[in-house]
Amino acid sequence: MKKLNVALVGLSFGLEFVAIYCKHPDIDKVYVVDKNEKLLNIAKERYSIPDERCFTDLQDVLDIPEIDAVHLVTPPATHAPFSVRVLNAGKHCGCTIPMGMSIQELNDIIAARKASGKNYMFMETTIFQREFLYIQELYKKGELGRLQYMTCAHYQDMEGWPEYWEGFPPLMHPTHAVAPCLMLAGHLPDKVYARGSGKVRKELADKYGCPFAFESAFISLQDSDVTIEMERFLYGVARSYSECFRVYGENESFEWQQLGDEDPVLFTRTGELGKVDILDEDSEKSSRGSEIVEKRIQIPDYAHLLPKEIASFTTNTVYNNENTHLSFTQGGGHGGSHPHLVHEFIRSILEERKPAIDDIMGAYWTGTGICAHESAMKGGEVITIPRFE
Ligand SMILES: NC(=O)c1ccc[n+]([C@@H]2O[C@H](COP(=O)([O-])OP(=O)(O)OC[C@H]3O[C@@H](n4cnc5c(N)ncnc54)[C@H](O)[C@@H]3O)[C@@H](O)[C@H]2O)c1
Repeated sequence: MKKLNVALVGLSFGLEFVAIYCKHPDIDKVYVVDKNEKLLNIAKERYSIPDERCFTDLQDVLDIPEIDAVHLVTPPATHAPFSVRVLNAGKHCGCTIPMGMSIQELNDIIAARKASGKNYMFMETTIFQREFLYIQELYKKGELGRLQYMTCAHYQDMEGWPEYWEGFPPLMHPTHAVAPCLMLAGHLPDKVYARGSGKVRKELADKYGCPFAFESAFISLQDSDVTIEMERFLYGVARSYSECFRVYGENESFEWQQLGDEDPVLFTRTGELGKVDILDEDSEKSSRGSEIVEKRIQIPDYAHLLPKEIASFTTNTVYNNENTHLSFTQGGGHGGSHPHLVHEFIRSILEERKPAIDDIMGAYWTGTGICAHESAMKGGEVITIPRFE
């Protein structure tokens, strides 16, 4: 069986993925790149990566013919230009969020992917988190019934994070919120209406020209009557971290927990739709409204979908008390998604098929947020999301 050689570029959050690639049964050699030599040495020592596979410049790994795939975990503004360079070098590309910073950048990646004939996978964690996998399973089994409405949010106070986040327009980085809803709906986004709310400090607003603390949007879908509501903030709001979604179905609805240490709630209609008994006015047992049972649920883990060598990474991480990465602890380990992302990226290449989240899907998800931010900046003008093909 063919094995792949992969390069991981960006070793801060990216270190997590080095550990998984090193253990994946379909991987032969792992290369690492970071311009920060300290991080490069940590990766080298911890995972016994030989000197000749450690580099400080992306170009070095692009020039090595035996490398099949490159996974980018560098800062946001590098994603699109680096993805294009990886694809133009004839290598498969996986890239963390956001896919790009403008509609033009999304189209540049699609054009490069087509010209290269290689795979591009958008490495969005939320659609491989256990909460999403569980709700998707319920929906496919028909338990939710008809989808009626979905809401999603990504709340994150980013004070003190790297300076490139300062003043980042909230919905320009939408996919931790909107991806699960769009994936579950199974329809492409069509139009978006958004409003900005509140204000961030002037020095933040000046960075990307976005004054708003919060951005909120309504998204309509092609060939569907379902609407998605999406919210996001990064600065100036006193609310702890949450990447969350709510799904309202005709028979069952799911609401994400309000606090990190709670369990989510499933609401279930017990009676038959349209069959509520209307008792006479004198009766004390008047039953207006259906009976809806509410229950906190524990979400199962999905490690059984993975090769045994990497299954433990859904609940264990390379980060610990000495070696922390805040995004991991805040995101609850991103719902155990990291090994699923790696596995899907690798298997899609070996099976010569499109990955679960390709460039087109990534562009629609990211483009929805870029258009929402544009709508908010234009005071709520409805924007048609471009067609990505
Ligand atoms: N849930 C998620 O999907 C999730 C979580 C955290 C971070 N991220 C994404 O991962 C990316 C990195 O986040 P982070 O918190 O690790 O950022 P960071 O700024 O802490 O780390 C980025 C790393 O990339 C390296 N780097 C920068 N430019 C480089 C270049 N030109 N060549 C080689 N190395 C370069 C830096 O030295 C640094 O080690 C961001 O885009 C972020 O959005 C995604």
